[in-house]
Amino acid sequence: MSIESREHGFDKQISEMRMKIKDLDARKVKDDVFDDATLFALYKLVQKGWISSFGGPISTGKESNVYMCDSDTGSVAVKIYLTRTANFNQMQKYIIGDRRFTNIKKSRQDIIFAWTKKEFSNLSRAKKVGLPVPSPLVWTRNILVMELIADSTGVPYPQLRSAYMDEPLAVYQAIVEYVRVLYQEAHLVHGDLSEFNILYGSNQPWFIDMGQAVTPDHPKAIPLLLRDIENINRYFEHTCDTFPAKDLLAEITDHPLAHLDEQVIREL
Ligand SMILES: Nc1ncnc2c1ncn2[C@@H]1O[C@H](COP(=O)(O)OP(=O)(O)OP(=O)(O)O)[C@@H](O)[C@H]1O
Ligand SMILES: [Mg+2]
Repeated sequence: MSIESREHGFDKQISEMRMKIKDLDARKVKDDVFDDATLFALYKLVQKGWISSFGGPISTGKESNVYMCDSDTGSVAVKIYLTRTANFNQMQKYIIGDRRFTNIKKSRQDIIFAWTKKEFSNLSRAKKVGLPVPSPLVWTRNILVMELIADSTGVPYPQLRSAYMDEPLAVYQAIVEYVRVLYQEAHLVHGDLSEFNILYGSNQPWFIDMGQAVTPDHPKAIPLLLRDIENINRYFEHTCDTFPAKDLLAEITDHPLAHLDEQVIREL
């Protein structure tokens, strides 16, 4: 195949993919949201059967867009990190200090790809110990394909902040237990836990958005764990009894830093 016809093929695949996404989301997806390389990577995922058709966006943000898609085996969620607008400096802070990612080069693109891989690996670790998180299916470049967390009719579960809970105390206790299992068995601290990054459906909380989760040996692990617990307590304290954050921190981890004063931990 000549270079010319190869390029023609590539252009055609890119524009096919662009049309597929544009048709569905013409107003929200501007031309510059997905670069050609992202569109080509999506095209390859379609060819391999990980995605068979594109549904609408579940969420569009500064860092990522999440789409509901069909695949050969059922519905999936496709999270696409936006290479141009993702908060690269913030990402870098979490990646540096994580011994699993010491060898990566530090260009903007490398950081975003490493972040996608990190979210895949964090979800795998959490899933392996039985936690309710989306099963990660495949990742490539800045794209993560995972299980869609949805009801039996395929409607994605809402974020905890907009869900009605019959028994808030039971939900709070389940979340605290998941934070413990995540730390003690999966050896991870979520690092951005809040009513935005927990979905709720069928009386069950689900943890999502784990790109920033760090291992307990990360220098910020204990302050991040304290912040996660405080966020959850803040959300629930008006609806049910909560445990003091400091007690939970000490119960979950016997890390020496966990015994310091809370204010000192926050400033670490
Ligand atoms: N696997 C999933 N199943 C159902 N809905 C999902 C799934 N993953 C994400 N969502 C929806 O998309 C929203 C955004 O996802 P997520 O929190 O992972 O990305 P984000 O907030 O953009 O992440 P970041 O801020 O790190 O870029 C979620 O609040 C949720 O409503
Ligand atoms: Mg989020």
